Amino acid sequence: MKNTDACLHVRGESVFIDDRLVPEGTLYAAVLSSPVPHAKIIEFDISKAKSVEGVEGIFTADDIPGVNQIGNIIKDEVLFADEEVHYIGQPIAIVVSKSDVISHKTINEIKIEFVKFTPVFDPRESYKKGQLITPTRTFSLGDVDNEWKKCDLLIEGTVESGGQEHIYMETQGALAYPSEDGTIKIISSTQAPTAVQRIAANVLGLPMNKIEVDVLRIGGGFGGKEDQAVPWAVMTALASFKLKKPVKLVLHRKEDIIMTGKRHSYSSDYKMGLSKGGKILAYEVTFYQNAGAAADLSTAIMERSLFHATNSYYIPNAKITCISCKTNLPPNTAFRGFGAPQALFVMESAIYKAADKLGINPSVLQEKNLIKDGDEFTYGMILKNSTARKCWQTAEKHYSIEKLYKDVKEFNSKNKIFKKGISMMPICFGISFTNTMLNQASALVHVYTDGSVSVSTAAVEMGQGVNTKIRQVASEVFSININRIRVESTNTSRVSNTSPTAASTGADLNGGATRIACMNILERLKNFVSDKHKNQNLKTVEIMDEVVYLNGKKTGLKWDELINEAYTNRISLSAQAHYATPDIYFDKKKEKGEPFAYHVFGVAVTEVTLDCLKGIYEIDSVKIVHDAGKSFNRLIDLGQMEGGVVQGIGWATIEELMYAKDGKLLTDSFSTYKIPDIYFAPFEIKVHFLENKNTQVGIFNSKAIGEPPFLYGIGTYFALTKAMKEFRPDLKEKFSIPLTPEKVLLALYEKP
Ligand code: MTE
Ligand code: MOS
Repeated sequence: MKNTDACLHVRGESVFIDDRLVPEGTLYAAVLSSPVPHAKIIEFDISKAKSVEGVEGIFTADDIPGVNQIGNIIKDEVLFADEEVHYIGQPIAIVVSKSDVISHKTINEIKIEFVKFTPVFDPRESYKKGQLITPTRTFSLGDVDNEWKKCDLLIEGTVESGGQEHIYMETQGALAYPSEDGTIKIISSTQAPTAVQRIAANVLGLPMNKIEVDVLRIGGGFGGKEDQAVPWAVMTALASFKLKKPVKLVLHRKEDIIMTGKRHSYSSDYKMGLSKGGKILAYEVTFYQNAGAAADLSTAIMERSLFHATNSYYIPNAKITCISCKTNLPPNTAFRGFGAPQALFVMESAIYKAADKLGINPSVLQEKNLIKDGDEFTYGMILKNSTARKCWQTAEKHYSIEKLYKDVKEFNSKNKIFKKGISMMPICFGISFTNTMLNQASALVHVYTDGSVSVSTAAVEMGQGVNTKIRQVASEVFSININRIRVESTNTSRVSNTSPTAASTGADLNGGATRIACMNILERLKNFVSDKHKNQNLKTVEIMDEVVYLNGKKTGLKWDELINEAYTNRISLSAQAHYATPDIYFDKKKEKGEPFAYHVFGVAVTEVTLDCLKGIYEIDSVKIVHDAGKSFNRLIDLGQMEGGVVQGIGWATIEELMYAKDGKLLTDSFSTYKIPDIYFAPFEIKVHFLENKNTQVGIFNSKAIGEPPFLYGIGTYFALTKAMKEFRPDLKEKFSIPLTPEKVLLALYEKP
């Protein structure tokens, strides 16, 4: 069962925002954004811009009929800057005209003057100034302060990780058009249709039922369209509400890179205490999160950093603190892994440093400290059905690790310039939104009289294959051919109050709701059949492969005939259902609870070859054992694994955001911001799914797959570090992501 969208994508027939046939009279918007990072606006003059031929409107904060506020969790973000600007790229106004070209040219005709303030870009500096997004939070287990003196080895350090640009293939965009009576329909490239609906309603001063949001699919989101698809959609809604005409806004790539937030960079301090035998007894860490100029999703991302700070290890005494710091950068946002990659990198850095001190392979410490059933996470959840060790052991066996180490050792002894390195990277990722409320979804299922089926859910298809998985659910419950099932666009009028498609929960939540809706219809169909045979001693009614079975015996009644008969007898062939993840909770006062439905585990073995003359490197292989439960769709899951790994490697190695002193992003195009391409990707990515059929976990006992594979990319960092050390044993690791070839080269030849 391949991805439903595969053929459309390959033929270029899939429809994204910019591919839509627009309604007659559509106008085009372009955004005027701040060229300075922190300033007061002292003059703003649109008189010249207004008179440019083809311009139909210019909109600013003054034109908003409702509230100038788009903050989701914290109400701290305006749609259009009014008095002050807080980052380069912050929207100030939009120009709407007959063409995209005219609108973009006209932006330059707006006269704007600023008085500049001193910006802050460094999170530690903003912390010192007391500029925080939200109060600091700490998770703790045991008693670190008491434990340090019992440790045989103490290590401390600082770890840095950079941001990351999403580079979804479809840039941010929306198309809005007015209908009658002040209602607006918005076609948006968003992971969160309800967020767009709710915030558009607030900004326009309308009730939510006057805004309809529709998402056919999006050209990648990776978290970048969870909150940050909102402003562009709301801008088009505002302009179309005011002008009573359709308005389209699709950001150019450079605009998208400059104006939107990225993965949060983190600067962290840690301390770790170990026993002589290599048990990690205590771990203390403080994350300084660079949130940018507004909260966006930073508080939620901070939470996931807290949850995943100890990765897949059991540490009896831990104190984890996260400080969300306000800086003059675009508000940073969700990005695959959602704060976990940053936290895991600190943990692994600490382990590598400790191993170095002990003169052993880090994998010895990693294995020794793997979490097992009955162990407690810092947030009070007791682990059940752990597969951390099973994944580790399977990887050792399946990929003949001992031989791998031997081969690499031999290679390194024979080569002076080329050095190889290997790393093991175990991962742990909790599945469920950490905000318990969001763990719900709905589905609306119609069976038409010809037996074809239409499914609407809250899930947004973004390339991750959720629509295919939802089709599989309906096909499996009804036991009918998957080609009879169509998944509709995600639409707030059909399915309401949607949680964003995020936190890797898309298939679990929406598949769960689809399953219940289909089961309800199936139940009605079975009752209809048994009513028909009331006097015939009927024990079971089943549908298998589109045929009705009575008492286990095949009948001549086929699916489409059954549907037709049921309709004739006035049986309802539609159902709406709601699913909420059972038994999860979290007490934010105590910072304890059981926030996750389950955990995903796995291990990656990474081998790299480093050219120590040039600093460039090749990733020979990433070999993974991954617990996907009972994989629901192997091809899709494999695609998610491969894509996630490569995206993670990109963050760890070559994706480097560079800023000028004044905060201007220097890497604002594909020529300066390098993402992995097929030549850079590992030569080999092997995935062995640990078949783990017995546990009751996600939809049809599968486990969510969207984000966890990203974490394996961190392994490449440490494989490179090992190779560097082979060339230069006195290497001083800096524990700083990304480890670009430039940084490798400088470190290899740094003066002692
Ligand atoms: N895969 C593709 N092709 N495109 C994407 O945008 N987003 C990732 C992941 N895989 C993404 C992707 C992120 S950040 C998440 S949270 C999940 O998919 C969301 O979808 P799911 O919940 O259905 O797994
Ligand atoms: Mo994914 S970062 O939860 O959209």
